[in-house]
Amino acid sequence: MKKNFIPEGVADINYEEYEKMSAIETSVLDVFRRAGYRQIMTPTFEYYDLFSDDDISVDTEDMYKIVDTNGKIMVLRPDATVPIARMAATHYKEGSGDMKLMYLTNVFRSADYRAGGKREFRQAGIEYFGTNSSEVDAGIILTAIDALQKSGFHDLTTEIGNADYFNGFLEALASECGIDDPETEAKLRSLTEAKNIPGLRAFCEEKGLPEKFTNVILEMPLLYGEISEITERAYEIAVNDKMRAAVDNIRSISENVGKSVSMTVDMGLISSLDYYSGMIFRLYLKDSGAIIGSGGRYDGLMKKFGKTLPAAGFGLNIDLLYEVSQNEPADEGVVNIALGKGRLADITVEKLKEAGIVFPDYTKESRKLIFTDSTGKYRIIFVKAVDVGIYVEKGACDVGIIGKDTLLESNSDVYEMLDLGYGKCIFAVAAPKGYKYNNRRKLRVASKYPRVAKEFFAKSGRSIEIIKINGSVELAPLVGLSDVIVDIVETGNTLRENGLEVVEPITDISARFIVNRASLKVKRDQVMELTKLMKEGTDK
Ligand code: PRP
Repeated sequence: MKKNFIPEGVADINYEEYEKMSAIETSVLDVFRRAGYRQIMTPTFEYYDLFSDDDISVDTEDMYKIVDTNGKIMVLRPDATVPIARMAATHYKEGSGDMKLMYLTNVFRSADYRAGGKREFRQAGIEYFGTNSSEVDAGIILTAIDALQKSGFHDLTTEIGNADYFNGFLEALASECGIDDPETEAKLRSLTEAKNIPGLRAFCEEKGLPEKFTNVILEMPLLYGEISEITERAYEIAVNDKMRAAVDNIRSISENVGKSVSMTVDMGLISSLDYYSGMIFRLYLKDSGAIIGSGGRYDGLMKKFGKTLPAAGFGLNIDLLYEVSQNEPADEGVVNIALGKGRLADITVEKLKEAGIVFPDYTKESRKLIFTDSTGKYRIIFVKAVDVGIYVEKGACDVGIIGKDTLLESNSDVYEMLDLGYGKCIFAVAAPKGYKYNNRRKLRVASKYPRVAKEFFAKSGRSIEIIKINGSVELAPLVGLSDVIVDIVETGNTLRENGLEVVEPITDISARFIVNRASLKVKRDQVMELTKLMKEGTDK
């Protein structure tokens, strides 16, 4: 057998690719330089402690760790901004004016690799230290746009938000409802960030929040679109001055950016890197299903390094820019719907029909994988059910219909907009009838859903061995491969007919409507129309 000498998630770059990538880099850096930024470099590895802080929250699992000869844990640079902030805090001299730094560097993260992407990617960006003003914020956004346009990327959508809108809300939640534990805050943050409306509704019910707070939580993720209209509504529902100030800041930045730039707002925009404290922004290319650049203000991070120093910046993903430059332009008019072959297929096609979207060629028996509706506006792409998440995350499809079970397992980075209410079943631990847990030995768990199983048992601190199975999991405990299984149970027939029973339910499951992050912004009208039609179907 041929030996594979190249690790997964990294790649050699040949000279043709290198020349094209380097042309993009040169042009981007040239714009930064002309805007007054000076290039710096930080080490490839840093102390783990630099990133492990709660305020920074690069997921510890996403970092590549190295133990040095003294036993100290180091990491390969998982983020470009934090080391530069450290550097600025050390070298910045009071009274010496603003400091404008730029970089071109490699960043290493395992999250992308697990989602089928790269573990090492190139990033170019700028960091501005010294002044906090909407003029500076607008200047940073304009530099990002200029760098992209001068490098040949013209079809851009810029989106702005302000982290303090959400942070202000958290403060109100603490002072008025007494909710201030970090775990709850983190949960609310990730649900809001994913526009996970069903999850947010459940969160509000579980916490028994007053109506005023529930309304804001449910509306915030949906407040995106045209700046003057959205900021007006955002101001109306704001519950304290911090939230109102965040809205004012967005308005003022938008005025400074000017009308020539196509910019929208998203009040639910929250970076997963929670060091952002003021404006945040993202850049989308119409031809790509990904965010090609992002940035924001992070004055709070500087305090960690003992400096009160305003700071803001952004990074562009050079690998993505290169990929997009090589792609054929996407068919902009059509909304691609990813649908899993299997239990949700027929019912979804039926629901779409009820919503007036008809696929005349579709039959259960057909082996065709792509169907276009009678208006030519929508296209169903049939993929394996477990792959729906990745098709949507990577932008090959704009939206998808996926069971919550598969979504939980794939952990896809998408917006979870609707609970469609059908395809209901439960996740459960099941075992042969009469089975009792034996706490003295490690529990062997067979499952198609190793991530879900691991998380469930980890919560109660039980140590388990996972055996990943691809189907007919019920067999595993019957032939001694495992003690229990973690699987979905719909009618319960499969368990019954094989002499198994539910030991512990885990969670309820139903079909979800998911949306690609860029499509929601660049195909806004079409995606919103489909979301509305699907929602009307579920409300019936
Ligand atoms: C699922 C699940 C169970 C069964 C549960 O399998 O893994 O085996 O359905 O449904 P029930 O409670 O209505 O019997 P699926 O049909 O997807 O096939 P697979 O096991 O080959 O993946």
